[in-house]
Amino acid sequence: MTQDILQHQEGGVLTLTFNRVERKNSINVAMYEVLATAFEQGAQDSATRVVVLQGHETVFSAGNDIDDFLRNKPAGKDSPVFRFLRGIATFPKPVIAAVCGPAVGVGTTMLFHCDLVYAGDNAAFSMPFVNLGLCPEAASSLLVPRMFGMHRAAEALLLGEPFFAEAALEVGLANRVVAPAECNALARAQALKLAAKPLASLMTTKQLMKGSQQEAVLRQMDEEGAHFGRMLGEPAAREAMTAFMEKRKPDFSNC
Ligand code: COA
Repeated sequence: MTQDILQHQEGGVLTLTFNRVERKNSINVAMYEVLATAFEQGAQDSATRVVVLQGHETVFSAGNDIDDFLRNKPAGKDSPVFRFLRGIATFPKPVIAAVCGPAVGVGTTMLFHCDLVYAGDNAAFSMPFVNLGLCPEAASSLLVPRMFGMHRAAEALLLGEPFFAEAALEVGLANRVVAPAECNALARAQALKLAAKPLASLMTTKQLMKGSQQEAVLRQMDEEGAHFGRMLGEPAAREAMTAFMEKRKPDFSNC
């Protein structure tokens, strides 16, 4: 099994740590497989009462591994990436994220499915799907406008502009901004508080909070997934991703 995601189970808290810092914690198929299975099993496993997702003090995740995406295009709803997205979006117990440094693409969109988000003051969020010839995923095309309002959502999703910890706090994506060295510890402390509470009350409360939008979220994910899958094979995405790997600016003049 890949060591690029570390799993640690203690005190009712399952901690999943992105551990591929040399590739900026970008996520490949093997890592999606581990994440998907962890959420699927964690939903059933009575030892898991809360999940924490965290990265390194310098980087949360650079999103999809672009090289891997070029070589292994996700195939359909049962692919590891879609299993992970469905797993986190429907996870019945609390999920907490600790985000420091860059959180790109799915590194940001997964946060819309977390219940609590703590950010290091170096956090930089971005969803540059359009700049990669792609479209939003993880129901972000539904959830970002709902949380940010249309015009700010357009800056994030159409222009693909980054936003930083204080802006995330202001719009409600982040609960608190702390020094990067304190972020993972804060997430763990909050997770332990939650893990000590009655699980049935937590689960019922989460279901009541999220239940009414669950169906719409899953429908949006499917619709986005169909576009995303098609666009991955088209010239704009190929050019953007090849340009990234070749460390040059993409040329969309023919796209
Ligand atoms: N997929 C594959 N490799 C990636 C990657 C990704 N998403 N993100 C970073 N890497 C690799 C880089 O190619 C580089 O490899 P190298 O050492 O062989 O040159 C290494 O990780 C370090 O990245 P680098 O870009 O030099 O670090 P940085 O600190 O200057 O910038 C980021 C960090 C995250 C801002 C930048 O790497 C980035 O923008 N990554 C792409 C994000 C992206 O578009 N994700 C896809 C969203 S769908």
